[in-house]
Amino acid sequence: MSHASPPKPAIARRSPALSGSIRIPGDTSISYRSLMFGGLAAGETRITGLSEDEDVVITSRAMQAMGAAIRKDGDTWIINGVGNGCLIAPEAPLDFGNVGAGCRLVMGLVGVYDFDSTFVGDASLARRPRGRVLDPLRDMGVQVRSAEGDRLPITLRGPRTATPITYRVPMPSAQVKSAVLLAGLNTPGITTVIEPATTRDHTEKMLKGFGADLAVETDARGGRTIRLEGRGRLTGQAIDVPGDPSSTAFPLVAALLVPDSDVTIVNVLMNPTRTGLILTLQAMGARIEVINPRLAGGEDVADLRVRSSRLKGVTVPEERAPSMIDEYPVLAVAAAFAEGTTTMLGLDELRGKEPDRLAAVAAGLKLNGVDCDEGHSSLIVRGRPDGKGLGNAAGDAVATHLDHRIAMSFLVMGLVSQHPVTVDDTTMIATRFPSFMDLMTGLGARIEPIEGKAA
Ligand code: S3P
Repeated sequence: MSHASPPKPAIARRSPALSGSIRIPGDTSISYRSLMFGGLAAGETRITGLSEDEDVVITSRAMQAMGAAIRKDGDTWIINGVGNGCLIAPEAPLDFGNVGAGCRLVMGLVGVYDFDSTFVGDASLARRPRGRVLDPLRDMGVQVRSAEGDRLPITLRGPRTATPITYRVPMPSAQVKSAVLLAGLNTPGITTVIEPATTRDHTEKMLKGFGADLAVETDARGGRTIRLEGRGRLTGQAIDVPGDPSSTAFPLVAALLVPDSDVTIVNVLMNPTRTGLILTLQAMGARIEVINPRLAGGEDVADLRVRSSRLKGVTVPEERAPSMIDEYPVLAVAAAFAEGTTTMLGLDELRGKEPDRLAAVAAGLKLNGVDCDEGHSSLIVRGRPDGKGLGNAAGDAVATHLDHRIAMSFLVMGLVSQHPVTVDDTTMIATRFPSFMDLMTGLGARIEPIEGKAA
């Protein structure tokens, strides 16, 4: 899908105290995995709490194109899967629009099959090289035809029988780890993935739940070895998807920054591979109370009461990056209002996102008067707790580069800056986190579309 609709800029202004209780949509990573694994497993999978964003719509279409039957009954999604090893060849290219993670995972899932599968996406997806996923697939025997530099459009064709590999993931990446494991599902023998640091573990946990023969060993330094026996039987499951901690990050940081706020966010996934932002904000002095921690469907879940807080700058260690990789843009905004300096290290992975998120955040901060330094893999932000001089009085808009997390982070910034903050586009928020605007304005945030103006 190309960026068909015209950009819709929006403006955020200093807001009165935020208050209320909100429920965040289901975790995106668990949502698209539920559809993929349900579409692959034999029998019926029933999913509640599924996020209904573009990631899910696109993954659901891809699984349908490969033989899965997917329907919705009230709030429950019901999937009848094909059975492991039984995907059928998609007749048309699989269009991943703006969804990079889904694209990488499905490349692993179907790439080893002995037929052609073609992947396309929007301008932002097409710009990024896919070598980090394609290289291990090539080792397993997959032929790759692509635009120059391993870019979309890409056509994959697996061998008659894929070769199991032992793959040491060169960087901490859940997407690369997952793509290799998913390829291992249709590969005879044991596929082994070694990751240097623990990244989100939804693929491992969920595949085990679906019946895969999978074992995980963790070494003293936090590295993990995952072994998966291929060609096993996967059986449909019942899944209740908890609220997305990455989406939670926006109202959470907004509530911390806007004076006198008191917001409760219910049913948030607290899997330790995803809670790096909460740990960091607590170290900065954030008042985040974890209420009613519980286990739901094998995952840690809790409600969060968030009250406005005086934040202090900290150094965020490199090791924490995998557990908050999508949260740096909004942490950078929190840091802009903290007392002192916040230093974020080990951000190399942000340069591999769609777009280069580190450059996009630094550019947006500078445009809005924040004193910061962008290093090759670091970001240093010197905060202004009173927000004086922050924002952009001239109305110059942050370039979001089709990235919903950049757009939402800077809209949060506008709620506390002296001057408003404008972003050049919000159309991708409507597809990736459709309830964001309503949730935020319902809490009292002053965010408005700029009608009739393309920034
Ligand atoms: C994801 C993993 C993360 C994250 C992405 C979703 C996943 O990427 O940025 O939004 O669902 O596995 P990496 O861990 O590959 O950096």
